[in-house]
Amino acid sequence: MSNVHVMDHPLIQHKITYIRRKDTGSKDFRSAVGEIAALMCYEATRDLKLQDVEIETPMGKMVGKELSGKKLAIVPILRAGLGMVDGMLDMVPAAKVGHIGLYRDPETLEPVEYYCKLPADSSEREVFVVDPMLATGGSSVAAIQMLKDKGVKSIRFMCIIAAPEGVKRMQDEHSDVELYIGALDEKLNDHAYIVPGLGDAGDRIFGTK
Ligand code: PRP
Ligand code: URA
Repeated sequence: MSNVHVMDHPLIQHKITYIRRKDTGSKDFRSAVGEIAALMCYEATRDLKLQDVEIETPMGKMVGKELSGKKLAIVPILRAGLGMVDGMLDMVPAAKVGHIGLYRDPETLEPVEYYCKLPADSSEREVFVVDPMLATGGSSVAAIQMLKDKGVKSIRFMCIIAAPEGVKRMQDEHSDVELYIGALDEKLNDHAYIVPGLGDAGDRIFGTK
């Protein structure tokens, strides 16, 4: 599973345990999701390309390093993905942000598209699709297909908790996409919720039910 990166950083693991707890309220859940996204962004950008650049410090000249590859874009899958955007932007403040609106129909479990607005130059950017949960994979597979249909070539997907079923579906349908996962859980239940998971991420971020 060479394109699957499960994060083993202790801070990420600690914070994921915190958001899994059923007693963690919305305010604390939301801020921890943001912190996890920032830490995951740090890990998922380790391989970005650098180039040498000559600069002058107050003490003299030197050759420093600066990012040289594609510019970045962050695309949350609405609505729960919104919870990860600020944490990502804390790490890469110059990134542009697009939005894809999808929800999972509770009966059919199929993703229903309702919105798509991307930065104009998305096809030239390295696009990070973010969503806290990868369950059946229906939503992320559809979101990534929407990006590909609009000409986006470099795509990474980041989620906080994934089920094996969703990982397999992403690998089957988008094997070119790098997957960054905070924790790989055991399975889906009969309603396609991740077990042990954390419940409904969107409801817990926004305090809805
Ligand atoms: C959740 C979650 C993912 C999707 C994962 O969103 O945030 O987008 O389900 O499930 P899947 O892998 O089986 O598609 P939901 O549809 O509940 O919408 P929300 O973000 O508006 O709460
Ligand atoms: N969406 C969620 O928010 N949680 C799950 O466990 C599965 C899908």
